[in-house]
Amino acid sequence: MRAEHLPAVKALIDLCFAESTWSENMLLSEMEKPDSSCTVALEGERVVGFLAFEQILDEGSVIEVAVHPASRRKGIARELLQNAIKSANDLSTVFLEVRASNAPAIALYESLGFERIATRKNYYDRPTEDGIVYQLPC
Ligand SMILES: CC(C)(COP(=O)(O)OP(=O)(O)OC[C@H]1O[C@@H](n2cnc3c(N)ncnc32)[C@H](O)[C@@H]1OP(=O)(O)O)[C@@H](O)C(=O)NCCC(=O)NCCS
Repeated sequence: MRAEHLPAVKALIDLCFAESTWSENMLLSEMEKPDSSCTVALEGERVVGFLAFEQILDEGSVIEVAVHPASRRKGIARELLQNAIKSANDLSTVFLEVRASNAPAIALYESLGFERIATRKNYYDRPTEDGIVYQLPC
């Protein structure tokens, strides 16, 4: 991801998450964090996918993943996640959190081998909902 992609990534996130609080400045900070990697998927020049991934020591975290509705079920999210995990150094585990009702994302994570390890009661708001914590041993 480059700075020129910021407006398109912000628009993609707003489209995919009604409750999103990301601003372009927050995305820029995420891009510039040494422990983070932000990646876009392009169809031609158009941004159709976004992944923010963080690594602290041997622990990876999926911060955000989103694919434009018109480009879903083409393997874009799977490829973004697999590339981030493959490119990371010395990972022993990857964690993520997902809304309990987010069946497409849960299907994606389980298809990649993530295992459900905990439920955080009412973790999300707008609307209030449990968060499910997933872990991928690497
Ligand atoms: C979740 C999301 C990122 C998936 O992106 P995607 O590019 O469509 O996913 P992929 O095409 O890589 O799917 C890989 C696998 O995940 C599973 N999967 C993905 N979407 C699914 C759906 N709607 N229903 C069932 N399984 C699904 C399937 O196993 C799929 O493999 P298959 O197509 O060969 O059956 C996308 O739906 C999205 O952006 N949703 C809104 C944002 C969001 O909820 N992000 C996650 C927050 S935790």
